[in-house]
Amino acid sequence: MDTVVSGIRSTGNLHLGNYFGAVKNFLKMQKENNCFFFIADYHSLTTHPRPDDLHGNIKQVLAEYLACGIDPEIATVFVQSDVPEVTELYLLLNMNAYVGELERTTSFKEKIRKHPDNINAGLLTYPVLMAADIIIHKAHKVPVGKDQEQHLEMTRRFARRFNMIYEVNYFPEPDAYNFGQELIKIPGLDGTGKMGKSEGNGIFLADSPADIRKKVMRAVTDAGPSAPGQEPSEPVKNLFTIMDVVSDQETVKYFREKHAVCEIRYGDLKKQLAEDIVRATEPIRIRINDILKDDKYLAKVVSDGADKARASASKTIREVREIIGYRPF
Ligand code: TRP
Repeated sequence: MDTVVSGIRSTGNLHLGNYFGAVKNFLKMQKENNCFFFIADYHSLTTHPRPDDLHGNIKQVLAEYLACGIDPEIATVFVQSDVPEVTELYLLLNMNAYVGELERTTSFKEKIRKHPDNINAGLLTYPVLMAADIIIHKAHKVPVGKDQEQHLEMTRRFARRFNMIYEVNYFPEPDAYNFGQELIKIPGLDGTGKMGKSEGNGIFLADSPADIRKKVMRAVTDAGPSAPGQEPSEPVKNLFTIMDVVSDQETVKYFREKHAVCEIRYGDLKKQLAEDIVRATEPIRIRINDILKDDKYLAKVVSDGADKARASASKTIREVREIIGYRPF
C-alpha cells in the first residue's frame, strides 16, 4: 500500500469548495492507501493566532473532517503538534535548505506583498516544515491543490538533496495525487472565481439552513440572457457549476434549458440551489455538532492518532540521525 500524507491548516471552517474539491477524494483515498491526515497547527502559528483561539480552531477542523467521513479507524488522524519529531526533522532539513530558494517561493512572495508587517522566519521556512511533515512518514503520494504544487516540488527537492548529500536512497520523492482526475473547482457566490472564506462568497459545512438560504439568495447573477442560446455570464455559470455537484441532473438540465430559451428566473434557480445545498450538507452539519459535543471521542481519536504517527515518525528520526552521523556513546 502507498503512503499518503495530507495536512489541513487549522484556520477557518471547511466550505463547499474544500469538501467537493478535496475531502471527498480523501474518503476514497483512505480505503486504498496508508493515509496520514493531520491538522497543521504548527503551520497556523505563522499568522499568530491568539492562545484562546488555538485549541478551538484545531477542534473545529478536526470535527469537520471526521464529520465528512475521514475514518480514524482506517486513516491515521492526528494533530501536528502532538508529533514533535517533525520539528527535529524540520531543523535537520533547514540545514540543507537555501535562503535563496525559500525567498523565491511564490507563496512567500505573496505573503510579503500582503502582510509586510509580519514576515517571520516561520513563513520563510514554511515549505521546509511541510516537507518534514511529508517525508517523515516516507510518503509516496500527497493530495494537493494547485496552490500547493510548488511546495510539493520543494519537498521532492529536499528529499532528493538529502539522499544526495548522504549518498543514500532513503526518502522517496512524493508525487502529487489527485486520482488522475482534474480537481473540481467550486466557484464562490460573489461571481469572482474560486470559493473562499471571504464574506458573501463561501458556504460553510457548518452553516445553518437559514444561513445557506440567505447566502444563496444574495448570490451575484446578471440581468438575464438577452438572446436564445447565449452563454451564461461568469456569475451565473458559477451557480450552475455548484448545482452540478449538489443537484440531480434533471434539475440542472431544466435550469440550463430555461436559460437557453431566455425564460430563466434566477430567484427560482437560487431557491432550488439553496435547498439542494442544504440537503447535501445537512447530515454533515449535524455530525459536526454531535462530534463537537463528544470530547471523549475526540480525545481518543487524537491520542490514538498521535501514537500511530509518532511510531512512524520516531522510526524515521532514528534512522535519519544514524544517516547524518550521530552515534551512541
Ligand atoms: N500547506 C498546506 C496548505 O496550506 C498544509 C500542509 C502542511 C500540508 N503540511 C502539509 C499539505 C503536508 C500536505 C502535506 O494547505
